[in-house]
Amino acid sequence: MSESVHELLKAGKPWEQTSDRMVRMAVVGGGFGACFHWHEHPNCKVVAVADPISDRRNGLMERYQCETAYETLDDVLADDNVEGVAIFSGAPDHARHVCAIMEAGKHPFCAVPACFDLEEAEMLAEIKESTGAKYMMAETSWYRWETILARRMFKAGIFGELIYSEGEYYHPMVGEEVQGLWWRDGQKTWRYGFPPMHYPTHSSAFLVGVTGERILKISCAGWGPEEPWCFDNVYGNPYSHEVSMCITDQGHSFRCNVSWSAHAFGERAQWFGREASLYMPDDAGRPYIIRCPEGDITEFPDYWELVPEKMRYDTGHGSSHAFLTTEFIDAIVADREPEVNLYEALAMTVPGIVGHQSALWEGQQMEVPQYG
Ligand SMILES: NC(=O)c1ccc[n+]([C@@H]2O[C@H](COP(=O)([O-])OP(=O)(O)OC[C@H]3O[C@@H](n4cnc5c(N)ncnc54)[C@H](O)[C@@H]3O)[C@@H](O)[C@H]2O)c1
Repeated sequence: MSESVHELLKAGKPWEQTSDRMVRMAVVGGGFGACFHWHEHPNCKVVAVADPISDRRNGLMERYQCETAYETLDDVLADDNVEGVAIFSGAPDHARHVCAIMEAGKHPFCAVPACFDLEEAEMLAEIKESTGAKYMMAETSWYRWETILARRMFKAGIFGELIYSEGEYYHPMVGEEVQGLWWRDGQKTWRYGFPPMHYPTHSSAFLVGVTGERILKISCAGWGPEEPWCFDNVYGNPYSHEVSMCITDQGHSFRCNVSWSAHAFGERAQWFGREASLYMPDDAGRPYIIRCPEGDITEFPDYWELVPEKMRYDTGHGSSHAFLTTEFIDAIVADREPEVNLYEALAMTVPGIVGHQSALWEGQQMEVPQYG
């Protein structure tokens, strides 16, 4: 073991500007899309924003200090000044929108998940290869600070063999909040009855984003309440709670849960190696702890120096938004693939698509197609 855990808890080399190149970004979708840091990265200027809903469009203009506003993604794609598009439309539209962005010769940064079915996964891979676009998925769990630490511990060999990990995402659809998420102007939104395992990436990033492993097989159990949203949704989905067991290409096991019904909240993981383990804290008071040969460590990492100075403040999801923004812009500037590229995105998304099918088949274990 060459590096100590204490060293890995510190940022290390701070972010440094290496070029004057300005990436000309557009931001589409003014809900979650208004929580990022594009205008604060020294190599990025927001040259357009879009949303058909005027309040949201105005919110984007204000947040990103941008004077050019459109109603739709199509308008953005027709603007030659735009080279990258951050797209935050509803989940079922992602693959179609990302393909249109790549075909227009622009680089997509897309909210999770990557796609809804296997045909879309193939279409994304094909168009990415033919256009050479740089795709990045905005998976927040990938850049939670505990995940960055786990990735560093894995690379430094501190876990020994990392034989088992668990990732979970719990977002109960109850109370006032759910009305705003499920309904807009009297119409159901895309979130109404969305199959939990079609939204697996907040959980699966805790495996794929740490060890780089691929999920080869999955078995999933589903549960749903006797309530309308599990009968009359457009997905034909009866479940609000899905729990999966996965086997990786390294022969390791991974538990992957997504639930809209469990009385728990947030995204959380724990990683078990033969020589060390790492536990994320949760909202019910379970503690954060690293158990390793150096002893039990409870010091939390501080990674702010890894992003440009202006961006060093928390806008949610474990301070990950600034890190996602930085990685995409830095990748375009350096003309390299972003860390959370299309193949990582599919490795996080596709197991969930297959997992939901497994649940519909009463937990039958199924093989997961691989891409890239
Ligand atoms: N932690 C996370 O990573 C996280 C958190 C929240 C949301 N999300 C994801 O972000 C995405 C957006 O979430 P949200 O809660 O804001 O959803 P939302 O449905 O409230 O908002 C989507 C917005 O996109 C706009 N839009 C849709 N199609 C458009 C088009 N063709 N042109 C211009 N605008 C268009 C809509 O008008 C709407 O304002 C979702 O895919 C969601 O899964 C991720």
